[in-house]
Amino acid sequence: MAFRTFWRSEKLLVGVILVCFLGSCLFSVYSLSQSDHTLDQVVGPFALPKVDLKKRLALHRTTLPKVFPNHNKNIKEKNEEKRPIFVPHVGLVVDSQQQKQDQNIEQHDTIEADSKQGFVPRVGLDSLQVDSNGKADTPAAFREEDFAPPNYNLHVFYYPWYGNPEQNGKYLHWNHNLIPHWNKQEAKKWPTGRHEPPDDVGANFYPSLGAYSSSDPAVIEHHMQQMRYAGIGVFAVSWYPPEQADNEGQPSDSLIPALMDAAQKYSLKVAFHIEPYEGRTDWSLQHSVRYIVDTYGAHPAFYRHTRNGKSLPLFYIYDSYNLPSKDWRNLLSPTGSHTIRNTAYDGIFLGLLVEQKHRNEIIQGGFDGFYTYFATNGFTYGSSFTNWKTLKQFANQNKIMFIPSIGPGYVDTRVRPWNGRNTRKRLNGKYYNDAFQAAFDTSPEIISVTSFNEWHEGTQVEMAVPKRVGNYTYSDYTPNSPEFYLQLTRNWSEKFKNLQ
Ligand SMILES: *[C@@H]1O[C@H](CO)[C@@H](O)[C@H](O)[C@H]1NC(C)=O
Ligand SMILES: *[C@@H]1O[C@H](CO)[C@@H](O)[C@H](O)[C@H]1NC(C)=O
Repeated sequence: MAFRTFWRSEKLLVGVILVCFLGSCLFSVYSLSQSDHTLDQVVGPFALPKVDLKKRLALHRTTLPKVFPNHNKNIKEKNEEKRPIFVPHVGLVVDSQQQKQDQNIEQHDTIEADSKQGFVPRVGLDSLQVDSNGKADTPAAFREEDFAPPNYNLHVFYYPWYGNPEQNGKYLHWNHNLIPHWNKQEAKKWPTGRHEPPDDVGANFYPSLGAYSSSDPAVIEHHMQQMRYAGIGVFAVSWYPPEQADNEGQPSDSLIPALMDAAQKYSLKVAFHIEPYEGRTDWSLQHSVRYIVDTYGAHPAFYRHTRNGKSLPLFYIYDSYNLPSKDWRNLLSPTGSHTIRNTAYDGIFLGLLVEQKHRNEIIQGGFDGFYTYFATNGFTYGSSFTNWKTLKQFANQNKIMFIPSIGPGYVDTRVRPWNGRNTRKRLNGKYYNDAFQAAFDTSPEIISVTSFNEWHEGTQVEMAVPKRVGNYTYSDYTPNSPEFYLQLTRNWSEKFKNLQ
């Protein structure tokens, strides 16, 4: 999601300004028509229906597979229902399916036997097949014995914005458009159009789970397993208010209950990464926080971090610099005009630090700390490892938190073909290891990983498989296995625990 602000075209900006202007006109009329202003009405565009959380949670719970050992089977059965398998002779369908199942059982037994000797990294996953539709077969599920203890100071940015026809009626995000260069002359030099999933996705790597849907319960379950395998404790889910989404996606707030239930099942915690949704202001943010805390705050998987003796929800606020610090101050300073401090909705609010000058804006805005998001070392002041020690000192002096964001690499040329200079090669894990080390050198309280699954920017640690389609060969993790970046994360997660 990087660069959204940087590369936004002028046209879009004008559009947004117009929409905001019209929106505020309409809204003023609306406000005037209300005699009695409550907070909810003042932030009218985001007025929310009362959500019966229990009902929603119950609904989702019934759709989640319940037991680990059967999980693989569940996914298989489901896929066989959904995906037509092209085989010329009907008789062979049964045979080959039977064969596949037999192989699976065998493999499962072998790993079970091995794991009794201690932790064995899962190696069976290289048996991944690409079926006759060109989709990757669903990888084997992890088992409980494979999991590492969750480290709640290790966070990862999670995107619930992917969709496919089976679950969502159409592809979402995998069919990403090729973003034109902001300079019209330059834009002419580059291809345009959209990717065509399932084989051609808007990413330089290809996911082990194929062109998946974020709302598929089997996918959610597998993601939780991957995170636990990696020793991650918290995932910060990219969040828009209900009814809102990014350009390529659909509203995803309705997925939160399923994500939280799954998180709970795997002892993971959920934090919120508040996107710069349309109309985001200090007022609407207050409303968003109230909504999130009221709707999800009672869920056992809702993440709270203890700071200065208080256990508080933690919010990452993407592109926080879009709003002047005097506005943030109204909300985040204890003396602000509509302060959230020392109310039931108080939290740990983390601004995004991109440029050096944002340091002071973050202090003036009343934030509790800052993070750096971008996985491209040297791209911004904040994302440059060499500045991290200074940033940490600055944070200490001002008694706020510095949460470095690190990633395994960066490449977004499948959606921004002209952006090659920001590519950072993975170097078989060296880039990621160096980033972790740079973060460690600041003795951080929390480290955030960019990302679990931002596939468009190639920052994912999620499992990826080798794939070649037509004349395009995806990047992959070879000579290492599809779960290599989960393994590296796992190792650092443990080191991080010992450091603290
Ligand atoms: C790859 O294939 C596409 C369509 O088949 C074609 O338009 C494109 O020029 C090819 N690219 C290369 C580098 O051969
Ligand atoms: C993780 O650490 C173990 C033990 O130190 C080591 O054997 C293994 O190679 C490491 N894994 C990776 C992917 O570096």
